[in-house]
Amino acid sequence: MTDQLIPTRRAFPADDPIFALNAEAQARKQAGEAVLNATVGALLDDAGQLVVLDSVMDLWRQLGALEVAPYAPIAGDPAFLKALVQRHWPLLASAGAACATPGGSGALALSLRNFLERGQTLLTTAPYWGPYATLAAENGIHLATAPWPGVGEGLDVAAWDAALRHLMKAQGRVMVWLNDPCHNPTGRSLSPADRAALLGLLRDASALGPVTLLLDFAYLDYTKEPGAVAAALADYAALGTEGQVLVGASLSLSKSMTLYGARCGALAFPWNGDAALQAALNQSCRGTWSNCARAPQALMLRLARDGKAQARLADEHRHWSDVLGARAVALDAALEAEGMAALHWQGGFFVTVPAGDPDATCGRLKADGVFTVPLPEGLRVGLCGLRADEAPRFASALRRAAHR
Ligand SMILES: Cc1ncc(COP(=O)(O)O)c(C=O)c1O
Repeated sequence: MTDQLIPTRRAFPADDPIFALNAEAQARKQAGEAVLNATVGALLDDAGQLVVLDSVMDLWRQLGALEVAPYAPIAGDPAFLKALVQRHWPLLASAGAACATPGGSGALALSLRNFLERGQTLLTTAPYWGPYATLAAENGIHLATAPWPGVGEGLDVAAWDAALRHLMKAQGRVMVWLNDPCHNPTGRSLSPADRAALLGLLRDASALGPVTLLLDFAYLDYTKEPGAVAAALADYAALGTEGQVLVGASLSLSKSMTLYGARCGALAFPWNGDAALQAALNQSCRGTWSNCARAPQALMLRLARDGKAQARLADEHRHWSDVLGARAVALDAALEAEGMAALHWQGGFFVTVPAGDPDATCGRLKADGVFTVPLPEGLRVGLCGLRADEAPRFASALRRAAHR
């Protein structure tokens, strides 16, 4: 034990659990085993290679020295912020109060520092992307959840209402992180009616104290329902325009541009131009990473000026959304063939299969060479790394593991 390490920092697991599972799967594969690895969190083609969007890499290769080497402005290039926000809401004239961040993770972290006091509690959905808990813990914030609707179910309005009221009463302010549409890890989005109900609850809560809704948009470009995604964005814009609930977005180039390693994103409040909010974001940036990488910001600017590149990118997103859709259909068919329920993927890289004892089921699957990520609610399956023709093996292994 390193004595210099302060006591509260001495008992963490050595590895991120998802990366550890992935590493184990890779090691067994390299040792010659026929491993089915559904823990991967990046999009792979059917040959198991990382998908890197050609339209994006062509733009990357065009970047000149002065688009890469100089510091970017502390809060990010304003033109980049506007271009990124306009990818989501094309009619907006400005990004509002906003800053560049290292991916969506950076945006999530900054939101914790600015909209909750240490010791307060963040509200999100169950299930949620695991690192939410790490981000919260690192920032001295607790995490509470309310249920994400199950397949064929509506939103548990009573549970959300109770959670919001409880937090408002306990701490006088509320922040909700909402990874909708294209939710990780369920692969489903809120229905328009559920979304309206939730936004109504947030509106009601905002009469009692400050409410921040942070939309975590990691996967919007990978969906079988682009029209429904656009409608969801319009619903959120309407709430933001009202100005009662502070609506912000965590935006990321990781999946949308397959620029995971470039670490670029933004935290934006497009319907709020408050100078104090902008100053708080600037302060957070300066006090955390000073400035973010310039190259991916410059790439976004090139993309915004290049209609042909935009069309190529849209085609690539369509293609890979179709691939994910075909994998989801194959998985549903295989699950149903084994007497289990379909998962009805709508978007994103993942689905979650229900499991009684996820850790034990995950362990039994692993013994069978099938790797998934256990969550309290079930097993996360990365469609992004699972070939359609692997679905039958997955489903039969799951049935055996579930019934052992
Ligand atoms: C739901 C969700 N939010 C945010 C992120 C953050 O990704 P990044 O920091 O690479 O933008 C991820 C990445 O997997 C995610 O799944």
